[in-house]
Amino acid sequence: MTTLSQYDPPQANDLLTALPQFPSDVGGAVFAEPWEAQAFALAVQLSGQGHFTWSEWAAALAHELKAAVDRGEPDDGSRYYHHWLAALERLVTENGLTNTAALLKRKEAWADAYWHTPHGKPVELLDRRTDLSPFEKSPMRQFTRADGVTKRIRIQDGHLFVCKGCCCGRTDKGFPALPLEEFKSQWKKRGIRRRFHLTVSGCLGPCALANVVLIQFHGQTIWLHSINSADDVHSIEIAR
Ligand code: FES
Repeated sequence: MTTLSQYDPPQANDLLTALPQFPSDVGGAVFAEPWEAQAFALAVQLSGQGHFTWSEWAAALAHELKAAVDRGEPDDGSRYYHHWLAALERLVTENGLTNTAALLKRKEAWADAYWHTPHGKPVELLDRRTDLSPFEKSPMRQFTRADGVTKRIRIQDGHLFVCKGCCCGRTDKGFPALPLEEFKSQWKKRGIRRRFHLTVSGCLGPCALANVVLIQFHGQTIWLHSINSADDVHSIEIAR
């Protein structure tokens, strides 16, 4: 846990009490991961620089928290900083500090750096060129067709098949609803669109285990079942 020791306590307390459901203890803000502290500091700094007021920030955050509740996500605070980040992205785009395309490009660049950093090494953005997308930088493989024509194909890291066949997602047959929109949303938010194909497929076979997902990743095949909620989708992590 990281505590908020770098902020002047009276000012920090003023900031914190203005925020809905803010995770804190007697020492101030509490962060489960370093990136949460960075996201917190970024909002404080942008507000301090006058890009938005702290009340505008509190309202934007409250909006995201309410949207999460409306989507049926558990209100246990475990995704508080995911909502924080969503509010921050919305506010900086609305205020013209950046735009959605630039945000997406940067996320894809980080995802690309992640996939290509050896395990145990720090992930760094080495190539900051913005004119090449991770897709354009991904490896190519050449092959020759039977008719002699040479083709080049781009190599993907993986393929995600989300089953929407005769049973998966069929609530009319008594199966759980399929969180398909969450798959699409996470696929974009994680910046892996250029690395992973996403296919909404027909029946994959094990209908009784609905909802079924198949992941092919660097030559491995991973089957998942009972992926029934947005939380289930969030919890899918693939190690490099
Ligand atoms: S419909 Fe999904 S496995 Fe058959």
